[in-house]
Amino acid sequence: MISLFAPAKVNLYLHVTAKREDGYHLLDSLAVFPAVGDNVRVEDAAALSLEISGPFGAVLQAEADNLLLRAARLLAPGRGAALHLEKNLPVASGIGGGSADAAAALRALSQLWALNAELPPLALQLGADVPVCLASRPARMQGIGEILATVPRLPEFGMVLVNPGVAVPTPAVFKARQGGFTPAANLPKAWTSVDAMVTDLLNCTNDLQTAAIGIQPVIGEVLDTLTALPGAKLARMSGSGATCFAIFATPAEAAAAAAVISHPGWWRWGGGLYEQTQPDL
Ligand code: C5P
Repeated sequence: MISLFAPAKVNLYLHVTAKREDGYHLLDSLAVFPAVGDNVRVEDAAALSLEISGPFGAVLQAEADNLLLRAARLLAPGRGAALHLEKNLPVASGIGGGSADAAAALRALSQLWALNAELPPLALQLGADVPVCLASRPARMQGIGEILATVPRLPEFGMVLVNPGVAVPTPAVFKARQGGFTPAANLPKAWTSVDAMVTDLLNCTNDLQTAAIGIQPVIGEVLDTLTALPGAKLARMSGSGATCFAIFATPAEAAAAAAVISHPGWWRWGGGLYEQTQPDL
């Protein structure tokens, strides 16, 4: 049996830099991985199956073509395995839950089946965010998300995540986006303090935020709530929403701030990053 943690992905900024002819958008984004996520477990079995548990499991039960099963079929068509997903992250929420699960399934199954497959190209076939989730380490995403580059060395910092319980479909948000394009960010080699990182991030944007608020105005309320938390240095939406984050000086401060948010129906979490070391990508 192989069990893997599938951390959430947060886009600290997300610039839409251009649009491709096939409709996909070119991005420049800094993705980090907070220490909260789903768990994927795989075991030998004759047939392919998937069992789902966890607080957000029920939402996915209805989905016949789950991304985990698609990942398994793509990796080795016709092979059997019993997959188990503990769904702790809200679904369709801009923090990469489905992409993280698919990436973890690719890694776990290729180990279980002792395959030597090149995983990043398979990951991209499952979604633009799956390659970065395969790395599960801070990375700068470009292209449609599949070009991964190193990011500035990050200071330790804390993060609060809040999801208001509304699903936002990614294609609708990209479609509703108005305005031009934003150039790629100009980032230093390292950030030596949280404040230096926040100063640079404040010069960046999430170019999908306004469109997502137009579709789900409650996202604006979430951002107001995060901004008002004592110690919050920056509040922004992640990905195509609806989950928003705020940055704090320390993981402990973020955990304490998250604990006081008690809006009914809102999911919240506070803590630090899952993995701070950066590989040479
Ligand atoms: O690749 P994924 O399934 O995550 O993308 C979902 C949808 O989001 C795409 O069909 C496309 O409409 C939009 N998208 C985009 N540009 C990206 C990523 C996603 O337009 N870089």
